[in-house]
Amino acid sequence: MKDERLFVKKAAIDKYKIYWLSITKQCNNNCLFCLDKENRKNYHLGLDEIDRNLALAQKGNYNKIVISGGDPTVHPDLFAILKLIGKYNFEKVQIISNGRMFADTKFTTNCIKLGVDEFTLSLHSHRFDIQDKLYGKKGAGQQAQQGLANIIKISRLLKVPSIINIDIVINKQNVTGLLDTIKYYSEKYGVYEYDLLYPVPFGSAYDNKDEIFFDLNEDFKYIKAVLDFYRENKDYFIWLNRFPAEYLEGYEDLIQDPKKIIDEARGRLGQINDLINNKKPFACKQEEQRCKLCNFYDLCQKLHEYVLVPDKSKKIKQLGPDDQFVYDLPVCLAIANKKIRNSSLNDLYPSRNIEEIMNFYQEKLYKLKSINCRQCSHFDDCAGVHIDIIRNKGFKILKPIR
Ligand SMILES: C[S@@+](CC[C@H](N)C(=O)[O-])C[C@H]1O[C@@H](n2cnc3c(N)ncnc32)[C@H](O)[C@@H]1O
Ligand code: SF4
Ligand code: SF4
Repeated sequence: MKDERLFVKKAAIDKYKIYWLSITKQCNNNCLFCLDKENRKNYHLGLDEIDRNLALAQKGNYNKIVISGGDPTVHPDLFAILKLIGKYNFEKVQIISNGRMFADTKFTTNCIKLGVDEFTLSLHSHRFDIQDKLYGKKGAGQQAQQGLANIIKISRLLKVPSIINIDIVINKQNVTGLLDTIKYYSEKYGVYEYDLLYPVPFGSAYDNKDEIFFDLNEDFKYIKAVLDFYRENKDYFIWLNRFPAEYLEGYEDLIQDPKKIIDEARGRLGQINDLINNKKPFACKQEEQRCKLCNFYDLCQKLHEYVLVPDKSKKIKQLGPDDQFVYDLPVCLAIANKKIRNSSLNDLYPSRNIEEIMNFYQEKLYKLKSINCRQCSHFDDCAGVHIDIIRNKGFKILKPIR
């Protein structure tokens, strides 16, 4: 039976058109995995520019503002920004923060009074020692938890309901205690919504990769414990963000919506444009080790092959066996159905228009194999099956050939 929470999740996503407002590059933390470290500059977005952005958001019918950063709470004009937002007609105002500034009750009271009605706090553990290590500041974990307690207390006092959810970047330091962390924040503070983010190998996360990335083959059991707990406890909402889908056999409903990878690609338009039109590979491609950790790998690899394979009649090796390109089906299903189709590289992408290429990738080329496929004799030359088929039918349809 389908989990009803999926419909609630979908309704929550469909209800809002979200405008992301990043108001500062500064932060009061120095997280061991911060992807923004390279961009950490002494820079705050000015009020005039924010006003212009808000006017654009209103015009574009966005109905929810998400304030982020850096850490948005360190912007010296945060209250003026919230007043400005209040002049427009947005339905919801969410803030994403490490939570530390909310340890100040006056600060929190102001934020709630000025219209923030959803707080996403990045609380990566319930243990202060781990939190401090991940935040890169002694005492920061305790401060952030005090921030969470204050938001709850002050919302009640002011009789203004606040939605509170927690972001957790899963990493080597916290993965073993992930379930304990979720139980702790739900039992102690009544928080039931969690976004579990798989680390992106950029910024500090890559510099500190040995302390952040972990062996999923070894440690998936801790994540599985969380997913099983989620199955059993219907009060919880848990989302997986950028989580390697091949591990999610039996939990396919938790595979991230494929549209998300396209949204991420849109965030890399400059790089993609340079690749397609100037044949300039992504700068990050020089480090093979980084690519192995990157959730963008499949799309990135296929784009590079499309642009950089000199002989256009040559098939993309990655996608199929040398003289047969399995277009719609993975080898195991194609053989069973006698439906192997040949196709040349030129059939793959319809044009050089980035939007069309992205849509084509999402509709045709966004494919997956399961971890069990590693035992298949066709593993290296099989493209896998489209992500939507897996999301609907599950990895169990794949039958590794020994
Ligand atoms: C860049 S932060 C900005 C907002 C705020 N400073 C915070 O930490 O919540 C936005 C989200 O990205 C997460 N994040 C930071 N570095 C990351 C990484 N390398 N991989 C995945 N998520 C990351 C943070 O934990 C947070 O949930
Ligand atoms: S993840 Fe957020 S809190 Fe941590 S250093 Fe980066 S911007 Fe700051
Ligand atoms: S897979 Fe692509 S985006 Fe990711 S690190 Fe490698 S080159 Fe960069």
